[in-house]
Amino acid sequence: MTPAISVKGLTKTYDSGFQALKGVDLEIQRGEIFALLGPNGAGKTTLISILCGIVRPGEGTVTIEGCDVVRDYRAARSQVGLVPQELATEAFETVWAAVRFSRGLFGKPADPALLERVLRDLSLWDKRDSKIMALSGGMKRRVLIAKALAHEPKVLFLDEPTAGVDVELRHDMWNLVRALRDRGTTVVLTTHYIEEAEEMADRIGVITGGKLVLVEDKTTLMTKLGKKQLALTLQQPLQAIPAELSDLSLELQAGGTQLVYTFDVQAEETGIAALLKRLGELGIDFKDLHSSQSSLEDIFVNLVREARA
Ligand SMILES: Nc1ncnc2c1ncn2[C@@H]1O[C@H](COP(=O)(O)OP(=O)(O)OP(=O)(O)O)[C@@H](O)[C@H]1O
Ligand SMILES: [Mg+2]
Repeated sequence: MTPAISVKGLTKTYDSGFQALKGVDLEIQRGEIFALLGPNGAGKTTLISILCGIVRPGEGTVTIEGCDVVRDYRAARSQVGLVPQELATEAFETVWAAVRFSRGLFGKPADPALLERVLRDLSLWDKRDSKIMALSGGMKRRVLIAKALAHEPKVLFLDEPTAGVDVELRHDMWNLVRALRDRGTTVVLTTHYIEEAEEMADRIGVITGGKLVLVEDKTTLMTKLGKKQLALTLQQPLQAIPAELSDLSLELQAGGTQLVYTFDVQAEETGIAALLKRLGELGIDFKDLHSSQSSLEDIFVNLVREARA
């Protein structure tokens, strides 16, 4: 099956001489929700802009639904909807005129019923006759999404869709994205909110310094790179970790009242049983224990730090 998106050996050097992408390879399947994570300036918007045909690629090939973004520009462009990072809307237009115009741009026949559904999904139906300049920032963002969906794109790009929006809109957006995916739309989103990627994405790509340093199934990523910790609340605080336990990955926290043991999720033996036995032998009693797993955020911060080193 043709992937929704195929990127091979993609580079991009801006006219300033700055190399924003350094050989990116990526395939995204139809119906996937793919999240692109990366620090400021990593190249996320550059990559998305090339995929949408707004920025010229350097070397390499990029196809959307099998259409080359340079050779078959129009065909490729008609497959995609883009919600850009920067808010730019036609201030004097009404919401209705703006979405109708967006659909027309792609040569699609008028379909008021479809546009009504899009506006209703985004809680914009009541605002259809309002001028865009009279809407709040969050509403303007909804209009951008409505415009991006007006021509029924097969692939939707959301460049930081929830930057600066309230919790309600964020949840609406997530629900909308899931509904689109269920109807077969492929969704690529960039975000700085790791919990957003954790919540939404099937797969996650981490980009930094123009390189895609990792692409992984979200659940695999979290088990593979995640570390688990076991925290023991001690009966008596310790001054230091006893020498007898120095071979273990232990840390004292909370003024010596908490002993934290870090272990590898993938390891065959967690070592917890052995740890508890040795604590017993040393007469170190604890009154409580709980385990936690590192979040996607910990994993992400570590990856970016490693890539920079
Ligand atoms: N038109 C341009 N001309 C020159 N350099 C550019 C241009 N657009 C982007 N860049 C540079 O390319 C790099 C990547 O920018 P890009 O906008 O793709 O990053 P990003 O990952 O989207 O960052 P952010 O999280 O801040 O949105 C940055 O160093 C940026 O300054
Ligand atoms: Mg960006």
